[in-house]
Amino acid sequence: MPTRGFPAASVSAIASERSVGSQVAYNGDQLTIRRLSEDAFKGIDVAMFAAGADVSLLYAPVAAEAGALVIDKSSAWRMKANVPLVVPEVNGGDIHANEGIIASPNCTTIPLTMVLDALRKRTPIRRVVVSTYQAASGAGRALMDELESQTEAIAASKTPEVNATSHQLAYNVIPGGWKPDADGYNEEEMKLVAETRKILHDPTLHIAATCVRVPVPIGHSESVLIETGDKISASDARLILGEAPGMIVEDDPHAKLYPTPHGVAGKDEVYVGRIRDDISSSHGLMLWLVSDNLRKGAALNAVQIAEHALEMGVI
Ligand SMILES: NC(=O)c1ccc[n+]([C@@H]2O[C@H](COP(=O)([O-])OP(=O)(O)OC[C@H]3O[C@@H](n4cnc5c(N)ncnc54)[C@H](OP(=O)(O)O)[C@@H]3O)[C@@H](O)[C@H]2O)c1
Repeated sequence: MPTRGFPAASVSAIASERSVGSQVAYNGDQLTIRRLSEDAFKGIDVAMFAAGADVSLLYAPVAAEAGALVIDKSSAWRMKANVPLVVPEVNGGDIHANEGIIASPNCTTIPLTMVLDALRKRTPIRRVVVSTYQAASGAGRALMDELESQTEAIAASKTPEVNATSHQLAYNVIPGGWKPDADGYNEEEMKLVAETRKILHDPTLHIAATCVRVPVPIGHSESVLIETGDKISASDARLILGEAPGMIVEDDPHAKLYPTPHGVAGKDEVYVGRIRDDISSSHGLMLWLVSDNLRKGAALNAVQIAEHALEMGVI
């Protein structure tokens, strides 16, 4: 927040019982973490929740009732009809319809909708097939720490401990780890499908996903096949995406120029590269996108929602 100069007169930090009394850095200052309670939201204008769906389900209505605009990072409220699900560059106008709670999408959904929205201004999107390569930090602090300790254990010829997910993540990739459905897709893949349709206001969009966890600390990547109504050539797509808000095209494979999670971690923009004409269909486009899941995939998107709400007079 300090890097964006959000005009907050005061900021409070709230976490679980475990963290009460410890300090967290904010804007060159240290905030002392307070306990979450029903009274915690009195006098608060904006309450940002990033504590998981169970906490949001219980406390977001309490905060909204106390007069705060809730911006929720969890999946708890995203698909509720009276809760806007917002990527400001795509559907910032939906903020007007809020009834006290606004949801911020899944960290893979946000960059994908930005790409699809930019392209569909030229011609409708017919079909999307996406495979994700998701960083450890997308599952929270516990898996990020475990990736580091597993890597150290392997380097020291010790057996790595596996606690935070189903399989060893270091030196491995895991094509799952989320709750599977009866038909073989999992919760993460179906979130990506449902949330993309909601944000784009396109409930019948043909879209399928495979989500994979990779041993990367920060930065989600996605390999995307997009079929459009009229053909968009790779060179046209480079121009369209290069002009889209919040997006940077890095695409010159001959010069070894393409986005990587290591290169994008810490950046605000969504990076796109490897833009190619699909050689298997006449109206297809293939590309690779990378974004920092902790920034645009999470905190930054929430702050941008607050900035938009402020500009729109909603706060
Ligand atoms: N990480 C991402 O890339 C990402 C992206 C988009 C959305 N999200 C969503 O954001 C939410 C948080 O994810 P995360 O990755 O930040 O998880 P995390 O690293 O595990 O952090 C969870 C935070 O929630 C707090 N918390 C847990 N239980 C609580 C309780 N009962 N009362 C008050 N605070 C409580 C924890 O406090 P303590 O430190 O005291 O335990 C901690 O600060 C999840 O819903 C996740 O799906 C995450």
